[in-house]
Amino acid sequence: MKKVTKIVSLTLATFAASFMLQSCGAEGDHPGFEYMPNMYRSASYETYSENPVFENGITAQLSVEGTIPRGFTPFEYDNTLEDFLRAGKELSNPLSLDAKTLAEGKELYGIFCTHCHGAKGDGKGSIKHPVYGAVPDYADAIAPRRSGSTMNEMNDGQIFHTITFGLNAMGPHASQLTQKERWKIVQYVHELQQGSN
Ligand code: HEC
Repeated sequence: MKKVTKIVSLTLATFAASFMLQSCGAEGDHPGFEYMPNMYRSASYETYSENPVFENGITAQLSVEGTIPRGFTPFEYDNTLEDFLRAGKELSNPLSLDAKTLAEGKELYGIFCTHCHGAKGDGKGSIKHPVYGAVPDYADAIAPRRSGSTMNEMNDGQIFHTITFGLNAMGPHASQLTQKERWKIVQYVHELQQGSN
């Protein structure tokens, strides 16, 4: 056991001494000797370095067209009135809905929508600003929306499209909420459309 300790400390001392010698070697333009230079000067191409292998000369290549990021679900609709209406026709809530998803939808609504739309969905949120003066009441059965239907008639796909892309002063929420979360909120908005909350 003692012998091993001796060997270890001797090795350490030799290593330290050679390291010190190396450091002292640097002088002016001469950087001294290098251990394992390929640790400093990598043989591989650096991420943003030029690259003679690829046609466009760049190492950091873009992913091929149509690549879908892991965990991302594409939404095949654009931010147009046409696609808003198409979403309304084609989509329905894919989640199996129950009291739990409704409670989760309520919680998410409280975080992302209440400050503009109000806890009851009547458009009376805490934000008082002329820009957000026209927040609709979800239970409104009179004012026609862009779908031609009334607010309390807006369906799954239309609400989902609105959350995804926003509308005028309302910003898009696609980057803040996963599709699953958006569908939970859609369920809760339907609840608010009844106007009984
Ligand atoms: C920054 C304030 C703001 C936030 C946050 C916000 N909204 Fe809105 N929302 C508005 C305004 C303003 C309108 C009316 C837009 C218009 O008609 O020009 C609107 C309209 C809507 C409409 C009706 C769209 C239509 O076609 O008439 C729905 C549905 C809706 N919001 C749902 C939501 C949901 C759900 C959330 C939360 C994920 C949310 N909004 C977050 C401000 C907001």
